Amino acid sequence: MINMGIGILHKYKDHIDLDGAAPISMGEGDTPLIYSDYLSKETGASVYLKIEGCNPSGSFKDRGMVVAVCKALQKNKKILVCASTGNTSASASAYAAKFGLTSAIIIPSGNIAKGKLAQAMAFGAKIIAIDGSFDDALNIVRKLENESSIEIVNSINPHRIEGQKTAAFEIIDSLGSIDYLCIPVGNAGNISAYWKGFKEYSSLKNFDPPKMLGFQAEGAAPIVKGKVIDSPDTIATAIRIGNPASWKSAGIALAESNGSIHSVTDDEIIESYVNLARKDGVYCEPASAAGIAGLLKLSKKVDFNEKKITCVVTGNGLKDPSTSEKFASTNIYPAKSELSEVLEAINKKV
Ligand code: F0G
Repeated sequence: MINMGIGILHKYKDHIDLDGAAPISMGEGDTPLIYSDYLSKETGASVYLKIEGCNPSGSFKDRGMVVAVCKALQKNKKILVCASTGNTSASASAYAAKFGLTSAIIIPSGNIAKGKLAQAMAFGAKIIAIDGSFDDALNIVRKLENESSIEIVNSINPHRIEGQKTAAFEIIDSLGSIDYLCIPVGNAGNISAYWKGFKEYSSLKNFDPPKMLGFQAEGAAPIVKGKVIDSPDTIATAIRIGNPASWKSAGIALAESNGSIHSVTDDEIIESYVNLARKDGVYCEPASAAGIAGLLKLSKKVDFNEKKITCVVTGNGLKDPSTSEKFASTNIYPAKSELSEVLEAINKKV
């Protein structure tokens, strides 16, 4: 593996215009792309998992954050602000800690996963928990635009999209081309970023960009339903969003790639979440499993035989241990600290 750990701003310096800003890195990108025996067998395709939970703060957000923070430093900004369902805030707080900035995160009270909140606390973020949704939080953040010391680091900041497009480059660098990309959709920044990446790279590397397949949770599926959802609800809190900021660019990605967007139920998400862990050894968070659930659901209607598919596994399962406790727990056998009892437990029939 070349260039491991140098970060996307160094690795893809010819593809991201920093306009004189000094590149920084926390080692983002270069995430594993793993062949899934289980999903390939289920669908007849060759299915690869892009494990974005291996980024420094445990989600794909770091790819975009490193660009946004690099530009914020160039502009001498002091405070990073974002609305978040958890991962953007974890990422922003990590980069703020490393580069001597303050982070202030605005989150929907009671609706972000434990691990993500723990990360923000550990990184020393100012945590503001509002009695509203992610969409309400983002509306407040938009109003901070003219505060001179503040850099907004949600994906409405175009630098975020510039960084996130590099995941598409990595997939093509590894596989040459793919037929479909399966991706969970919340605020719709990531699907837009991937499409930008595939399009830009296709003119340089001579491949046909893939069809984009987006997946929303059924209780938070504004793009699928074609209308704003006032009270979005899903177990996949990361994508509990009723009015995506990048709705328009996601629509362009779907149309230009000849792709489509669909919804999956919470039950389907949980089934895929457990199966991905038990059959592929990949521990992701529920939102990340939406793309897998969607692929399996679509494979009953669409012929994926012999196609090459990548599913974006957007975040690490450790961020949301409560969901495992609830849906993926197993027995714990109490035993004395003695060989005989331990052996007995090992051999017990489940
Ligand atoms: N998967 C995970 C794990 C996420 O955290 C998010 C978004 C998505 C998928 C959807 O990506 O918004 O670009 O369509 N999380 C944001 C946050 C909203 O605040 O962390 P998207």
